[in-house]
Order: sequence, then C-alpha cells, then structure tokens
Amino acid sequence: MELWFNTGSPFARKVRILAREKGLLSCLTERPTIVSPVEVNEDLARLNPLVKIPMLVLESGESLYDSRVICEYLDSLHDGEKALPAAAALRFAALRRQALADGICDAAVLCRYEHAVRPESLRWTAWADAQMRKICGVLETLEVDAGHWTGAFDLGHMATVSALGYLDFRFGTFNWRELNPNLADWYAQTTRRASVAATAISNP
Ligand code: BEZ
Repeated sequence: MELWFNTGSPFARKVRILAREKGLLSCLTERPTIVSPVEVNEDLARLNPLVKIPMLVLESGESLYDSRVICEYLDSLHDGEKALPAAAALRFAALRRQALADGICDAAVLCRYEHAVRPESLRWTAWADAQMRKICGVLETLEVDAGHWTGAFDLGHMATVSALGYLDFRFGTFNWRELNPNLADWYAQTTRRASVAATAISNP
C-alpha cells in the first residue's frame, strides 16, 4: 500500500503514528506529496477528488481517504490492541477525542493558510480570530478530559498529539500550555513515544 502524505500535515501524521504503533510499516510505502490550497496536484486529483492528503492507495488500486477512514482501515489489518477499541464506551470516547483534535487541525490549517497564503489585502482578521477561539475552546475540553487519561494511546490520543504538534510548529507564539497543564504534561510524555518522535511535523 502507498500512503501519500507530507510532513506538514497533522492529519497525515495521525495516520503515520498509527501505522508505526500497530506494526504496519512493512506493508506501507510512504510517498511525500506536495499540496497547496490554490494549486491542484493533478496526480493526487486523479485518485482523490478531494485533492487532499493523506490518501492510501491499496494493492487493488482503490484509494482511501480521509485520515479517519484510513486509520479505521489500517486498524482493521492487525490483531493487536485496537486504536479504536471495540467496546462502545471506549470507542466513542476515542472517536470524540479524534473529532475534537481534528477540529483543532481544521481550524489551525485554515488560519495557517489565511496568514501564510492569502494576500495581505484580503485577510479577514475577525474570521481568523474566531478560528483561534474555537481552538482555545477545544483545548479547554481536552484539558478536562486529559486529567483522566490513563496511559492508553488510542486513535483520539494520536489525533491529539498531532494537533498539539501542529500548533507548536505553525503557531509557535501561541502558548496553549499555560492554560492547559494536564495536556502539556501529557504531551511532554507522549512526544517520547518512538512513533511520535519519528513523525514530527516539519516543512514539507
Ligand atoms: C502545512 O504545511 O501547514 C500543511 C501541509 C499539509 C496539510 C495541512 C497543512
């Protein structure tokens, strides 16, 4: 299978963390892929009409997207502890965490494009501020949740470490740690995991 990704994408990082955690790297080739909010990558567009990474191309030639679908598919390929547990209470807690963390990434990537790509004369500060407020609200919710995290590392946690890493990389002056000490402690421990260290966000 071929995973189309780039090192700047927090969504692709979540998938790459899962692949490493679940011992699936040997059946995966990782293919660095350039994407831009304004220029269509034609190779990607032929296989994914959303023109987004990550995308997983199966041996059959069929492609899977988005990151949630890919993670669920990869998790079905191994017999170890599941990133999405079968028991309903754990499963929906993990899915909810994933939704929150992916929501941070959605808002953060939009803000990144607003700051870095959109011409200065067209920037909409009130809109970007509203996205950042959304991020702060989600962090507040995750902070309460993180007070109860026991050491398990499910899909929601993989999404969370990816989201926090993206904030550090693209929004270095945003001190999310100050108001979220549980998350900050958890992040400091979690970044020591081999799967997380090996997939650090960097410029594509
Ligand atoms: C980034 O470089 O910030 C980025 C790259 C791919 C997807 C989303 C964000």
